[in-house]
Amino acid sequence: MRLTNLRVNAVDRPYIGERKPFFSWIMESEDKDVCQTDYQITVMDESGEIYWDSGVVNSEASLCIEYEGRKLKSCYNYLWTVKCRDNKGNVAREKSSFETAIFEKNEWKSIWVASPFPLKERADGFGNQQRAVLFRKKIHLSKKVQMARIYATCHGLYQLSINGKRADEREFAPEHTSYDKYLCYQVYDVTKKLRKGENVIGMHVGSGWYPERNKIDKSASDEAAILFQLLVRYADGSTELIVTDGTEKSALSPVLSSYLFTGELYDARVEKTGWDSPGYDIGSEWKSVVIKPYDMDNLVCQTDAPVMPYSVLPVKEKLISLNGETILDFGQVIAGRIRMDICQSEGTKVGLEYFEVLDKEGNCFDTLFTNTENGQCQREVYICNGIPSHYEGHFAFYGFRYVKVTGINPKDINIQNFLAVCLSSQKENTGSFICSDEKINRLYENTRWSQTTNMLSVPTDCPQREKAGWTGDIAMYCRTALENEDVTAFLTRWLDNLRCDQGKYGEIPMTVPYDGAYPQRGAMIKALYPNSPDGESASAGWGDAAVIVPYTIYERTGNIAILKRQYLSMKCWTDYVVKNAKERREGSSLPDEIEQYLWNTGFHFGEWLIPSQSKEGYNLDGNPFKICETTSVYTAPIFGWNTVRLMAQTAKLLKENADYVYYNDLESKMKKAIQQGLIGENGERIPDYMGAYVLLLYFDLVPQRLKENVALRLTASLEKNNYCLDTGFLATPYLLPALEKIGRNDLAYRVLRQKKAPSWMYEVEHGATTIWESWYSFDEDMQPLKLSFNHYAYGTVDDWIFENIGGITMLSPGYKEILFRPQPDQNIKYAKRSYRTPYGIASCEWKKENGCFFMDICVPVGTKATAVLPDGSTHMTGSGSYHFKVQDI
Ligand code: BGC
Repeated sequence: MRLTNLRVNAVDRPYIGERKPFFSWIMESEDKDVCQTDYQITVMDESGEIYWDSGVVNSEASLCIEYEGRKLKSCYNYLWTVKCRDNKGNVAREKSSFETAIFEKNEWKSIWVASPFPLKERADGFGNQQRAVLFRKKIHLSKKVQMARIYATCHGLYQLSINGKRADEREFAPEHTSYDKYLCYQVYDVTKKLRKGENVIGMHVGSGWYPERNKIDKSASDEAAILFQLLVRYADGSTELIVTDGTEKSALSPVLSSYLFTGELYDARVEKTGWDSPGYDIGSEWKSVVIKPYDMDNLVCQTDAPVMPYSVLPVKEKLISLNGETILDFGQVIAGRIRMDICQSEGTKVGLEYFEVLDKEGNCFDTLFTNTENGQCQREVYICNGIPSHYEGHFAFYGFRYVKVTGINPKDINIQNFLAVCLSSQKENTGSFICSDEKINRLYENTRWSQTTNMLSVPTDCPQREKAGWTGDIAMYCRTALENEDVTAFLTRWLDNLRCDQGKYGEIPMTVPYDGAYPQRGAMIKALYPNSPDGESASAGWGDAAVIVPYTIYERTGNIAILKRQYLSMKCWTDYVVKNAKERREGSSLPDEIEQYLWNTGFHFGEWLIPSQSKEGYNLDGNPFKICETTSVYTAPIFGWNTVRLMAQTAKLLKENADYVYYNDLESKMKKAIQQGLIGENGERIPDYMGAYVLLLYFDLVPQRLKENVALRLTASLEKNNYCLDTGFLATPYLLPALEKIGRNDLAYRVLRQKKAPSWMYEVEHGATTIWESWYSFDEDMQPLKLSFNHYAYGTVDDWIFENIGGITMLSPGYKEILFRPQPDQNIKYAKRSYRTPYGIASCEWKKENGCFFMDICVPVGTKATAVLPDGSTHMTGSGSYHFKVQDI
């Protein structure tokens, strides 16, 4: 028996900024029917002084054990040990560590310093944005360094370097957050990078998302500013703190302009070689920084992993298009940018234009809207300095598969000199899936790519167009996300920001962080819909992220800490829903006792992107909101009820009894109101949309006596639609599960295998390498539409695939009980699914051979499983590996 995966706040050896961390671990054993019987945690500092000894706790618990020891000190490394016993008498012990960051505001001894250079006027268009700035601090260390940490952040985005070398490979620090309320600082272990004598700390700062937030607050400044402190512990035991204090120097960067949406303009002729190394002679272009009284209250330690390059793709093919463009095809839609080796004559402007698709003739096709600020292709321009150079952009990323190269003679473009760097927030992989159907495997791969490429600092809708933290997208997708990667810490930070941006009425904005063009869009919606509630306009299915995301994290990972952390925010959102259902009624014919429990007024995005309504999914008769209106009639009451239901569950789990009684009662009233007001006595009130049937059936909202009737209506709507789906963002995740629920998995397979649009396999058949935003994305002539080719929302189909083909279903929160029951159709002969549950790896591998069905399962320690085989036999097991062979019926 052994202990693995020791985690603090769901992260391996993190830096933490909170005084009450929580601990988790996994117990592994080759024996059968093993479970933990007791544990003991000890926490000590590096000198061996004990801070906490939990004593022996007789408990199976191994998730989210909260620290209850002495007050932890700032900026200290702590070692923790967990010792566990299992029910067979085996004992194991394992250790790990965590490090505290800066707990108290008065421990910040540094001050904000800013660039002395004037800002450009804010303007649209490539090359018109702010120039990046270099900051340099020369320091002298008198003794041998034993331990050194830098705590750093900026207004903008920064790259930190020590003595001419990047501190690490991270990109886009300090991350995309709601800056005025929540600005992350990063902790760097720079022990090995510093030396006795002269050292230089450099910070290269570009704009990034920062000015996007300032779009709301016109008085806020876009200027680059930095803050850091270096803590050094010398070999003799003494310490020194070196801080930003106004003595730093600053110069203009070769990044002449950078903007997340249009790209970067770089002039290699004005590079300052060696600027961040000792011995560099600063010339007159280096100016003194300006001291600023900027806020320190918003500083938060970043605990989750940074954005990192996770893979590098070579050019698959060099193409010359009909229009004569030189195009590099990397074979895969990604989020990232080009890394290139370049040597052209001085002053040559090399252009890199980034695209996700080619048009029907094979020319580059820009999917961005032309009428928006970002309606220009994503690009980089590199101005050469005549010497062999290596370039990778700094402060922007792009969604792309193809890159058009300009400024170099096509014959001179050597594909070896170009690589595509994939960027994503680093996360641990938790799942894998493979089966005998290559097309389904490709669909799974496409979802994985869409997930990785859309988890870049925040969960985004798409990396090419909006790059925004759309709430509805992650509300629907977070379950699938958790089935693929450990996104707990990543989503915890995002939820922290959701709390920051939650309005005073409890409303949740359409994106988190709420910045860029969205506050304006919110105001426009409010103007169009005067019946919108107070505060920012919040939509069903989107704002519900406030409840769905934390609840799903708890449900899939057993992490109860996230429910405690979000409880107030969840409650405020739920109360907002309840209040607006009750108070905002206009001319309804329904009696009061029904109407007050139906959330059906105000603006909502509805199901969003239903294919039968319009091809690109949102525009109907020139009105982008018409589809929203028609389908929000059912999405709002159903998602409102679902939020109240999850809130009641949460209150119960956290033993908030009065809240539980209140929300539980409301839940049943809302359910009744849906049955009377939205379904009707004989189902006559149900709007005739596939999604309405799906949601009502999936969520068990249909009274027993009408179930068959509603199920028939769902299958009839599929038949009418030639077994193509006709659901949008909010109903697609539940389509196949609803069919499974009504006993029609045969239809679920039929819809999954459908190749005609709209369907998942239409995308696969058309060479998709990620999940598309819209089910069509091309018109009849195979001309692409102006849509994103990389939106994870429809990748939620994997949940059904993991259960029905992969054979693993969670039966109780955190996978404490697991059902192993593959339900393949005749065409699938083999599958293997593996998933690291919070208790360890659960896997299921099955095959059909010579009339027999073979299944191998692995059940994690501390969990219970039920295995159901095609011959109908059922087997209950504890942990361990089991092999089954039965007749294949
Ligand atoms: C985004 C979506 C988002 C939607 C809401 C789009 O522009 O890309 O993913 O959820 O707007 O209406």
